Amino acid sequence: LTPIQLSAERLQRKLSGEVAGDKRSMLDRYTRTIVQQVEAMKTMVNAFTEYARSPSQNSAVLNLNELLEDVTVLYHENYTEVTIKLELDPSIPLIMADGVRLRQLVHNVVKNSFDSIEAGGWIKLSTRGVKELGLQYLEFSVEDSGDGIADEVADNLFEPYVTTKTTGSGLGLAIVKKIVDEHSGIVWVEKAEQGGARFVVRLPAISQRDNKLQTQLQSNKDTEVMP
Ligand SMILES: Nc1ncnc2c1ncn2[C@@H]1O[C@H](COP(=O)(O)OP(=O)(O)OP(=O)(O)O)[C@@H](O)[C@H]1O
Ligand SMILES: [Mg+2]
Repeated sequence: LTPIQLSAERLQRKLSGEVAGDKRSMLDRYTRTIVQQVEAMKTMVNAFTEYARSPSQNSAVLNLNELLEDVTVLYHENYTEVTIKLELDPSIPLIMADGVRLRQLVHNVVKNSFDSIEAGGWIKLSTRGVKELGLQYLEFSVEDSGDGIADEVADNLFEPYVTTKTTGSGLGLAIVKKIVDEHSGIVWVEKAEQGGARFVVRLPAISQRDNKLQTQLQSNKDTEVMP
């Protein structure tokens, strides 16, 4: 796809000096359409690849607060007209997770929030620890000041190809659901207090056994003596 884009851009550059008036604006318009549509196709191909990917095996101990701080720094730089609020509970439990996959999950949910709000809107990311039936979970939510979920998609948001966007693949949340399933978690959406959407992901905390193992591994590493 990149060669198509580059060729269109080259044609435009080469020919724009040779044609004038109406023809020139036509040339500009058509090349812009090609470049934009190819860009949309690229995004879609990436979404399909991501959706079809086999479950990952790269689990490691992960602190979601750190990942969220990392991710939001990038958004802050690119979307200065949107307020990103972070409400991270420093005492959240650690989880066993694939960092790359979780980053994708966060990105897909946050991107939907960005799509749903106007300039001047806000997005709130929060984390907390939850204990239920003696088990510990990490809960993470993304809330926005948008218009909330449209009725026509509300019942099957997490199914593939469900979208209200003209250029959307409808795979964003299907990928989110897949990643949550891979991590034995659950995900749901609710109405935010101010009317926007609030997506909540709950993932099992690292078990006591894993925790001990991890501490042991860490201390083995610390005491290792170089030959
Ligand atoms: N934060 C949100 N506010 C309002 N509607 C939302 C929000 N998140 C998701 N939706 C609705 O859910 C639909 C499905 O989302 P999903 O991420 O699966 O696909 P998409 O965003 O339409 O396409 P893509 O992810 O490829 O850009 C969206 O089209 C939108 O209607
Ligand atoms: Mg999306």
